Amino acid sequence: MRTTLVTGSAGFIGSNFVRMLRGRNEPVRVICLDKLTYCGNLANVADIVDKDRVVFVRGDICDAALVAELWKQYDIREVVHFAAESHVDRSILDSGPFVQTNIVGTQVLLDTARKLGCDRYLQVSTDEVYGSLPEHDKSAMFTEETPLAPNSPYSASKTAADCMVRAYFHTFGLPVLTTRCSNNYGPYHFPEKMIPLFVTNLMEGKKVPLYGDGMNIRDWLYVVDHCDAIWTVLNKGKPGEVYNIGGNNEMTNREVTEIVLREMGKPWDQWVQYVKDRPGHDRRYAIDASKIRRELGWEPKYRFDTAIRQTIQWYKDNETWWRAIKSGEYLTYYEKQYVSR
Ligand code: NAD
Ligand code: DAU
Repeated sequence: MRTTLVTGSAGFIGSNFVRMLRGRNEPVRVICLDKLTYCGNLANVADIVDKDRVVFVRGDICDAALVAELWKQYDIREVVHFAAESHVDRSILDSGPFVQTNIVGTQVLLDTARKLGCDRYLQVSTDEVYGSLPEHDKSAMFTEETPLAPNSPYSASKTAADCMVRAYFHTFGLPVLTTRCSNNYGPYHFPEKMIPLFVTNLMEGKKVPLYGDGMNIRDWLYVVDHCDAIWTVLNKGKPGEVYNIGGNNEMTNREVTEIVLREMGKPWDQWVQYVKDRPGHDRRYAIDASKIRRELGWEPKYRFDTAIRQTIQWYKDNETWWRAIKSGEYLTYYEKQYVSR
């Protein structure tokens, strides 16, 4: 059986990925490595950790000695690298942890892979490395050839990591793959990101804070579709290649907010609060995912209208999960981000 190191597996997408592998009974042993930062949560994977197929290790990807030890102990030959500082607003408040985890952490993994051997290394990247698209020219989309032009400290750190991945392919022949995906939504999404923040605020009787004019555009993809695309690239992708992943589902933030409000039976006027815009806020993201469809046969299976309903229902069914998060450190962040600005 293959042994795959999955970093960031206690976060939103990483935990959904490991859950998907277990649910499908894929023939793989997973070593989960996660630092359990403020957004890492053991509860996201506790029910799927077992001695044989899913091993959980708490640790930092920047710790080269630990990474090498795990590599040797479990005979790791494959990596899916999710671990990151992932929230744009936090990168504006303090970019330090983004440089450390997203750039240095990636370099540590790449170097260990190079020194100790690796058959496949998959870098989970983001469409944000391409910067922002014009909102009125709907024919403009991000392709894998679009020049990298990151605009936030978060996306700058992800871009630097992507460049290291590319360099390890060209310089050392490391068999790397890079995926760049659009905005995800679904279960276990940390409630600082727009959709889970809005859903849980409404459940708490709080207004939803819409940035600027609410007309920024994102391309939303259900998290299980993203996980399936990553598994497809890991198994069928060509080393050295980049694959864009998207839902072909562009919406303004106002449209997403309207859908969430409608599903939760809340009128716009009473529940939406326009707040100061995010500095450097990218206007539009749109992914051209024709390469992964054409070359690897992947396409999204979930429709936004049904998957968003299931997602809202998940937050209704899992109040204990998000209420535990929305306390402590979270309140300090919320105050800094939304109240004292
Ligand atoms: P997340 O913030 O929910 O989870 C990140 C996980 O990484 C957490 O469990 C955290 O504890 C762990 N982590 C952070 N620093 C670490 C370190 N130094 N060592 C070990 N573990 C560490 O993030 P997410 O939304 O699940 O995103 C996962 C990846 O997917 C990221 O690389 C992100 O850039 C990328 N991505 C996210 C989206 C999205 O919409 N959420 C879209 C495209 C790409
Ligand atoms: O595109 C992929 C990226 O999507 C990932 O790389 C990031 O890790 C992930 O966090 C996400 O980034 P965004 O910045 O697009 O996601 P966020 O949920 O923070 O914001 C989505 C949109 O909603 C964005 O235009 C900003 C807006 N927004 C966000 C928050 C948190 C608001 O209007 N109000 C808010 O309170």
